[in-house]
Amino acid sequence: MQSIPTSLNKHTCNVLNFIQLITNMKKIFLILIFLPAKFLFAQSNGIHIIPEPVKITVQSGNFIITPKTVIIVGDSGDMHAANFLNHYLNKNYHFQLPINTNPTNGKITIATKKFIKAPQNAEHYSFVSTPNGVSISGNSYVGSFYGVQTLIQLLPVNFTDGQLPIAAVNIEDEPRFAYRGMHLDVGRHFFSVDFIKEYIDFIALYKMNTFHWHLTEDQGWRIEIKKYPKLTTIGAYRNGTIIGHAPGTGNDKIKYGGYYTQKQIKEIVQYAANRFITIIPEIEMPGHASAAIAAYPELSCFPEKNTPTPQNKQLWSGDTTGKQVQQSWGVFDDVFCPSEYTFHFIENVLDEVMQLFPSKYIHIGGDECPKNYWKASALCQQLMKEKGLKDEHELQSYFIQRVEKYINSKGRQIIGWDEILEGGLAPNATVMSWRGEKGGIEAAQQKHNVIMTPGAWCYFDHSQNKPEDSLTIGGYTPVQKVYSYEPVPKELNKNEIKFILGAQGNVWTEYMAYPTKVEYMILPRMSALSEVLWSPAEKKDWKNFKNKLEFDTKRYQLWQVHFNENWHQNITTNR
Ligand code: ACM
Repeated sequence: MQSIPTSLNKHTCNVLNFIQLITNMKKIFLILIFLPAKFLFAQSNGIHIIPEPVKITVQSGNFIITPKTVIIVGDSGDMHAANFLNHYLNKNYHFQLPINTNPTNGKITIATKKFIKAPQNAEHYSFVSTPNGVSISGNSYVGSFYGVQTLIQLLPVNFTDGQLPIAAVNIEDEPRFAYRGMHLDVGRHFFSVDFIKEYIDFIALYKMNTFHWHLTEDQGWRIEIKKYPKLTTIGAYRNGTIIGHAPGTGNDKIKYGGYYTQKQIKEIVQYAANRFITIIPEIEMPGHASAAIAAYPELSCFPEKNTPTPQNKQLWSGDTTGKQVQQSWGVFDDVFCPSEYTFHFIENVLDEVMQLFPSKYIHIGGDECPKNYWKASALCQQLMKEKGLKDEHELQSYFIQRVEKYINSKGRQIIGWDEILEGGLAPNATVMSWRGEKGGIEAAQQKHNVIMTPGAWCYFDHSQNKPEDSLTIGGYTPVQKVYSYEPVPKELNKNEIKFILGAQGNVWTEYMAYPTKVEYMILPRMSALSEVLWSPAEKKDWKNFKNKLEFDTKRYQLWQVHFNENWHQNITTNR
């Protein structure tokens, strides 16, 4: 505070006090004028956009959407965005809007900008709503699609008197990271086509762009491969599932399984493409291969050896001889043998996978591959000698590099979990860093692309409450922890940062047997991750996000989905 010299008389002091009072009032007035654009109006005008846009200016007034409002599209490429808006309105408010190409009577205009040369920031969109209408224009069709997600986020949750008022705003927006992903393990538990579509819709609603579909596991092979029918007739089913936390307190003795036909996969890939979402399929190798080995025992280094089953017979259901699909969770010794038979099998499987999935990337797993069978295998030891490989980690690296070469020869790239760094990284591989950030840092320093999925922030199979009220794998990753995540590690320099493509939420389903549990585990953590990945780092504000989340949970109710209602608890327990 400014001090007043003591030599000044009382009158001068009063004048100075008065001037100071006016100055302070002016300051307060200015604060009231300028600050509230974000903090006052943003909270009170029903503006709770997640992820937070780059730039938003709130204007006065509302535009009212009614069932008579017309959507005008620029051209057929904008139909995906218009159709998604109708899909959303229909699902949640039970009406949809007419779509028209006649610009004279439009109220919601979705018209992607036309460029001679594709712009760098193709995902950018401009959004203007006034009392007279809404105008969305992306730098590309995907940008316009994100503009529609923003429109959806401006909708109230109550549809009263046939009206949906949305605030008048100006928005300029684009994402911070190119890769914004969600993963789902359908091996431990299988989920219907309808639920996969719902999951893809969640991804779209939060302006994420990648669905990492984990399709093969020890407990079930979930993708039809025409050349190897036993992968699904045998590998897609287990004779029972453990009860409780692994190793379990018993076995439910119920045959469990399922798989996606190639026809269903094509339908899902198209469904995702209509939402500008890429599906990256994961075919696990060389570990987590029990289901494939149960179908084709020659894929093991020891085809004659029984699958080891638990000592406690209560934990197992059915046959204990031969190769079996696993019924418990964990990491298992019987992995793919690096034989010519296996490589031939993998190439054939990948041929069909690449036919189904047009993604640039194919995920080939690479995590949690015990080396015990390889150590005991004469074939492996001979191969290591022949190739000059000093240990089984180098043998794994040989395995991955060989598969990478095949995938690269088809014009695609591999992603692998961070274990693929051990024994030497395949030349063009992208690393998914899950055991913390160390693998990601190392890969970026080696000039490899990286997707961050470190367990402490990005594993949505972890508990989210203390105490957790349902069975989970463990850990503790409340929503605030997810929100605090910064995907670019401080250890990287300016040139290395560019290798961090983005991040992803991982959803391993050992303890998620039903869609309702998956919903509960991802909401609201997925909302938090979307803001980490989309919004500029300097716009991240937990307090503001918390307010928005209060409204987001009302959206979940509108969608009639399950979510963690106790997410507030974390604020005290996490500090
Ligand atoms: C992993 O969680 N095993 C990648």
